[in-house]
Amino acid sequence: MTQDKTRREVIRLMGVTAGVAAISPYLTGRAFAEKEKVTKIEPPWPYEKIKPKVAAERAYGGYYEAQCMYGAFWGIIGELAERRGAPYNTFPAKMLKYGAGGVAGWGSLCGALNGAAAAIYLVSPDPEPIVEELFGWHQEAKLPDYIPEKAKYNIVKSVARSELCHVSISNWIKVSGLKLTSKERGERCARITASVARHTVKLLNQQAKGKLKALYPISGRTKACRDCHDKGSSREDSRGKMDCTVCHFNLGIKHPAKK
Ligand code: HEC
Ligand code: HEC
Repeated sequence: MTQDKTRREVIRLMGVTAGVAAISPYLTGRAFAEKEKVTKIEPPWPYEKIKPKVAAERAYGGYYEAQCMYGAFWGIIGELAERRGAPYNTFPAKMLKYGAGGVAGWGSLCGALNGAAAAIYLVSPDPEPIVEELFGWHQEAKLPDYIPEKAKYNIVKSVARSELCHVSISNWIKVSGLKLTSKERGERCARITASVARHTVKLLNQQAKGKLKALYPISGRTKACRDCHDKGSSREDSRGKMDCTVCHFNLGIKHPAKK
């Protein structure tokens, strides 16, 4: 083999040969195999249908490897990396450990949601509706709703009501009667990670087929608050799609006081 040919071979193996610029972000099955080189680093990288259960099991294992954000992200992208190699396997996924405990223990955004959103923005050409549906579901569903193949404990379900790690965990602690440091709490978050990865893949698969089902739109209540407080409203003094009443007006205060 000439040196030149060797170099070409190496480049080919790295998956960076030129010439597949305008490929569809939704290459499925055979189409993907035929045009397997992904040349651009800019997202979206091509998505290929993943079985929800496969993502869930990988995410569950990932949680015990490097926590929730990594787990949810790698449950999805790790599967593509195993099937396709580059560029998926070039992503320094372990850095996503930062999302643990709502970003380095700050209790802000749930790491599983953070990791899933990162994966969605990496492989979807239209990520926002998926994130909206995922977050809406996570806010209202009884979770975790995935039981891993090698389940360790019996885990009580709870409704997070919020995207925040703090609110989600404290609500579960209230329902389960267990402590933050219990083994069950870790297992619960591992299963939340698996549940979130599974649901994300279902939504990605739906969108890839052109049939994303929006079952959890922003509630009428939150919409009403946004109409007076968010962008384009009379006050424009707030931003967000979270359920406002988790923090405001839980005590039935009449509002607004005056129009
Ligand atoms: C019809 C318009 C309108 C709607 C709907 C509305 N607000 Fe307001 N909001 C106001 C106005 C006007 C004020 C200024 C003072 C007041 O009247 O209380 C205000 C003030 C506030 C404040 C500042 C603290 C206070 O009590 O003065 C918060 C917080 C707030 N609103 C949150 C919300 C939330 C959460 C919702 C949805 C549950 C909501 N608002 C729905 C108009 C509205
Ligand atoms: C996780 C809790 C949380 C959620 C959810 C939340 N807020 Fe707030 N909000 C706060 C806190 C904390 C403040 C700051 C209050 C303070 O420092 O007095 C605030 C402040 C505000 C203010 C300004 C209050 C003032 O005194 O002028 C408005 C308006 C407001 N929020 C509206 C909303 C709306 C609308 C939503 C839903 C889309 C929402 N908030 C969701 C916690 C929350």
